[in-house]
Amino acid sequence: MSALEFCRWVQYSAPLVAMRQSPILFPIIATVHLMGLALIGGAVLVVDLRLLGLGLHRQPVAGLAHDAERWLLRGLLVMVSTGILLFMCFATKYYYLTFFWVKMAALLLVIVFTLSVHRRVAMANEADVSPVRCKLVALVSLSLWTIVAVGGRYIGFP
Ligand code: HEM
Repeated sequence: MSALEFCRWVQYSAPLVAMRQSPILFPIIATVHLMGLALIGGAVLVVDLRLLGLGLHRQPVAGLAHDAERWLLRGLLVMVSTGILLFMCFATKYYYLTFFWVKMAALLLVIVFTLSVHRRVAMANEADVSPVRCKLVALVSLSLWTIVAVGGRYIGFP
């Protein structure tokens, strides 16, 4: 079965047909998807703005990163679960949208980056990491998350 055949099979399966026939289900799930975005956005911004030296100076970065990571992971859980449902509802439409695959590639990259390089720098002792490295890591993180969000916006309104 090709990826396109799988998308077709999923989209026309009984639960997804029922989801499309409901006037409220897709909008509710899309709204929860956006609320998850707010959770992730907040968790990412608190740490990356601090790494850029913009605000929260009295808070040690490692403490902020530790507390924010819990909300980031909860936000990711909400985004991935609602995103998969949204995708399945119009799978063959999204399959042909370049922005969907750009978003998925950026999402994979940013998750790996966030849980490896970014986490190591944010949770290190501040004295051991150069401010330039902190800023660079924050800029890469913010850029990748922005690609994911803009990609999401574009696929909603191709
Ligand atoms: C953290 C990760 C994610 C972020 C930040 C994100 C962000 C967004 C944003 C900003 C939108 C536009 C919402 C609107 O304007 O109405 C969107 C829509 C969408 N997202 Fe995501 N998303 C994420 C994960 C996912 C995943 C994992 C999938 C699928 C596997 C997905 C599938 C979709 C789909 C299909 C839409 C379009 C809904 C429509 O047609 O209105 N998203 N996303």
